[in-house]
Amino acid sequence: MAILKIARMGHPVLISPAQPVADPNAPEIRRLIADMAETLADAGGVGLAAPQVHVPLRLVIVPAADGQSLEALINPVIEPEDETTEDAFEGCLSLPGMLGRVRRWARLRYRAQDIDGQPVEGVALGFRARVIQHECDHLDGRLYPSRIADFTDFGFVEEMRQRAAG
Ligand code: NI
Repeated sequence: MAILKIARMGHPVLISPAQPVADPNAPEIRRLIADMAETLADAGGVGLAAPQVHVPLRLVIVPAADGQSLEALINPVIEPEDETTEDAFEGCLSLPGMLGRVRRWARLRYRAQDIDGQPVEGVALGFRARVIQHECDHLDGRLYPSRIADFTDFGFVEEMRQRAAG
């Protein structure tokens, strides 16, 4: 396994739509997922999208439903379960040290392929739903600042800590 370099905002790979993974069973995809998991653990994040490690493919790793482990979602497709939304602060390893308040669907339904190439689907709620939306945005070349409604809710972690906790 290897720790990969994380692209930061401004790199072209972060603003380009990613391509579908043609063969989720390919050994290089399994290796990429392992490397992304190691990179995420090293960086201390909660989710990671392949474009963030300079690989323009539709693959993310996100918290699993058990709340303990991570899972890979390959070629994920998401849709809201209903019209409920939630506002919360989120950060991104591609914008280190920053936070912004973003509105997300509170509940979503996802379909994808897993690390074995098998179809998976499910419903995600709350924090997990937020992470899935954030990571899937990366696959469309979208970073969270573009979803911030009020830029007074955007800033450096050290400056925002009190507000983010509230
Ligand atoms: Ni991110």
